[in-house]
Amino acid sequence: MNGSLFVTGTDTGVGKTLVASALVHHYAARSLRVTGMKPVASGAALVDGQWCNDDVQALQAAANTAMPAQWVNPYLLRRATAPHIAACEEGVRIDIDHLADCHAQLRQRCDMVVVEGAGGFMVPLDEHSSSDDLVVRLALPVVLVVGVRLGCINHALLTQQVIRMRGLHLLGWVANEIDAHEPCRDAMVDSLRARLQAPLLARLPWRPGMSAAQAAGYLNGALLPGQI
Ligand SMILES: Nc1ncnc2c1ncn2[C@@H]1O[C@H](COP(=O)(O)OP(=O)(O)OP(=O)(O)O)[C@@H](O)[C@H]1O
Ligand SMILES: [Mg+2]
Repeated sequence: MNGSLFVTGTDTGVGKTLVASALVHHYAARSLRVTGMKPVASGAALVDGQWCNDDVQALQAAANTAMPAQWVNPYLLRRATAPHIAACEEGVRIDIDHLADCHAQLRQRCDMVVVEGAGGFMVPLDEHSSSDDLVVRLALPVVLVVGVRLGCINHALLTQQVIRMRGLHLLGWVANEIDAHEPCRDAMVDSLRARLQAPLLARLPWRPGMSAAQAAGYLNGALLPGQI
């Protein structure tokens, strides 16, 4: 049994890392060998002489395997901006073939690989390709994290449309209540339920400091590799 899925979001900062880490925790709690993967991370800080990224660290902290950093995070770019801009600034070329090789290495060694995308679904990786091309190349089902705030319905429906147009499978979606003051969040979630053709995997309330384990507690259903 061996599986992988791709976690995307309606935007940057909507809870992809929280949800991806929750999924990693969910699989680890079921005794599956699991790793996270962040193919392209932008935004790095020097810690004890080593460049680190928060998303990569969160995914690794939730995992029960210690896969080599060069596979878990093949591209670590310094500036926290769109990947193609950060890559261009550093003279780095993001190679989808290389990302596919790293993903294959992880898949060979783990029961489950949870891949977190950068930003939204169509974020460019270079002048020719974007994040959705990577998902097509990896042939992964997609989990969409919707940051429940004004504008999210449009962003979610556009993302669903592109997932479908690219021949990919929307495995499910997560409603993440990132705006504590949004008065219409129930109506927004209901509107999305009626329009997204995939199951609602979890509805996460606004909880500052929520851990991966706590978020995993909101997941409905098992989503085991054999079902993906
Ligand atoms: N339900 C929630 N309640 C409170 N805080 C949350 C919730 N979901 C996410 N956050 C916080 O919002 C911030 C953004 O979340 P997260 O890093 O998971 O987003 P992301 O989509 O992965 O962002 P990026 O595009 O940078 O990768 C984090 O500080 C996270 O702790
Ligand atoms: Mg993230």
